[in-house]
Amino acid sequence: MEWPFADIGSADQRISRGKFPLTARRLLLPPSGRYRDEVNRETARLSLRPVEVDDLDGLCRLNADPQVMRFILDGSTLGREQTADRLAAMREHWREHGYGIFALRWRGTGEFVGWAGLATPAFLPEVMPAVEIGWRLLQQWWGMGIATEAAVDVLRFAFDDVGLDQLLSIRHVDNDASGRVMDKLGFQTDLRTTVPVYEQPVSVSRLAVEQYRAGPHCRGRLDRWPTFGTSRTPTSRWTPGSPSRDGH
Ligand SMILES: CC(C)(COP(=O)(O)OP(=O)(O)OC[C@H]1O[C@@H](n2cnc3c(N)ncnc32)[C@H](O)[C@@H]1OP(=O)(O)O)[C@@H](O)C(=O)NCCC(=O)NCCS
Repeated sequence: MEWPFADIGSADQRISRGKFPLTARRLLLPPSGRYRDEVNRETARLSLRPVEVDDLDGLCRLNADPQVMRFILDGSTLGREQTADRLAAMREHWREHGYGIFALRWRGTGEFVGWAGLATPAFLPEVMPAVEIGWRLLQQWWGMGIATEAAVDVLRFAFDDVGLDQLLSIRHVDNDASGRVMDKLGFQTDLRTTVPVYEQPVSVSRLAVEQYRAGPHCRGRLDRWPTFGTSRTPTSRWTPGSPSRDGH
């Protein structure tokens, strides 16, 4: 079982079927498996689309890296078969709820960067029912503001398109980089607790839709990073709050 998005397929039915039934369903176009514009998204530097089978190689590279997995599960890496199982669960989550994990690709080159998106934190029963936001990037892409940029767009998706009323974000207490991303997004620490299965100490943060609407969506700078293209040198062409899907 993967952590923190453990047991992603057994989402809470009250969230998906009771509270947001129509919104979630309208986001999908079955049975072709193709998604509407709401879920195929772009930021200044990234494309976001629901994870698909062709993301498996990238996900395998992610899950095989001990540094990436350091604060996830018990810190163990995952093999290809386990990662394929996780990918199947992620895709099932999209089918069931109409929201889930996006694969992130660098718009300039199409390279797989990692993922960001929404999941059901069933591994932490005390916070259920809930939806959490999370992120995981290949190491070579760390430190460029990418997780924050992707997450800002996932917040828009969650609150503006899906219609969720709050999100949680859950991290190992020592995962300071992830905590900083949460801070920049305006999440506020709610509680510290322990994941029962792994006995891992975690910090649970929360962002309500009212806070999201009142805030700037990002409290850090995102305008110091490169925008479109292959260059990764800083630029100042994009600022938080600018349109994310206008194709610039
Ligand atoms: C967490 C993760 C997604 C962050 O991605 P990223 O693109 O580097 O994040 P960003 O650049 O948007 O923001 C990171 C912030 O944390 C800061 N940071 C990075 N490492 C840090 C550390 N060890 N301690 C404190 N702050 C740290 C950065 O300086 C930056 O803040 P700033 O913009 O104020 O300078 C990435 O490190 C990762 O994939 N880690 C492995 C998987 C993981 O742990 N996922 C989260 C599970 S809860």
